[in-house]
Amino acid sequence: MTRRIIIDTDPGQDDAVAILLALASPAELTVDAIIACAGNVPVTLTGTNARKICELAGRPDIPVYAGCSRPMAARPLVTAEHVHGQTGLDGPDLPEPRMPLQAQHGVDFLVDRLRAEPPGSLTICALGPLTNIAMALVKAPDIATRIREIVLMGGAYFEVGNITPAAEFNFYVDPHAAAIVLGSGVPIVMKPLDVTHRVLTTDARLERIGALPNACGRAVAAMLNFSERFDLEKYGTAGAPLHDPCVIAYLIKPDLFRGRHINVEVETTSALTLGMSVADWWRVTNRAPNALFIRDVDDHGLYALLEERLARLP
Ligand code: RIB
Ligand code: CA
Repeated sequence: MTRRIIIDTDPGQDDAVAILLALASPAELTVDAIIACAGNVPVTLTGTNARKICELAGRPDIPVYAGCSRPMAARPLVTAEHVHGQTGLDGPDLPEPRMPLQAQHGVDFLVDRLRAEPPGSLTICALGPLTNIAMALVKAPDIATRIREIVLMGGAYFEVGNITPAAEFNFYVDPHAAAIVLGSGVPIVMKPLDVTHRVLTTDARLERIGALPNACGRAVAAMLNFSERFDLEKYGTAGAPLHDPCVIAYLIKPDLFRGRHINVEVETTSALTLGMSVADWWRVTNRAPNALFIRDVDDHGLYALLEERLARLP
């Protein structure tokens, strides 16, 4: 029985690899739809990039929606062109998409689809800021009991922040949305920087992916060779963290990962620590556990899975 997923995403090269991994795994996952969110680049571009990725995978049938253009609270959208390039998907030269963007707003689609399906039918894979999901939960609180699980990339604790000293990018862009999702009561599996920083894009790994005999392998190598530059310079490590594919890999092979069910809260007021995720890893508070916080991963196993699945694509 495959798991039906809706991917909320801000492609973004690492988002693109996550989407390709999902589309390459039909025995485990069925991608019902993709909702573009604002984050790495504005939602006009993430909507375009999501369609470019679907067409690269030979899947123009996947419905792609555009969601909100900015965070929930009155603050400007923070983007990450310094990492992802002006298009958000710099690296490979992918053609402009021919498939259309769906007319319905992504938030309205999410509410309608969750209400139309039996409770527990759909898992949300959140690869960017959580604005669309939080807006749907505020607009239609009844959907909280209909979502099977939210598997998200976001937050950090032992690894601290990557966009500020305290906060991870997805939570920083929309901290209020992150707080709403973490407080929703929906079962959550969280892939923070603590685990994604253990999944490095080493030269050997990117060479193997680039040597795959297909367009997707070459495109993924070009994407990650572009987006890793910033982190290689910043961290001085042998590779850059690979963030969003950890969400999809977890759904395909959960035993690659280890974590702990704990309480995680998000700072939404302090200017100094806005978007910081406070994880009660040592259970020193009486705050109720609300997320499976993933900290460890078999990174060799993850890359073996990624390579094997990417090889299946066009
Ligand atoms: O902090 C990493 C996250 O921010 C990833 O999802 C990346 O795509 C960016 O959205
Ligand atoms: Ca992302």
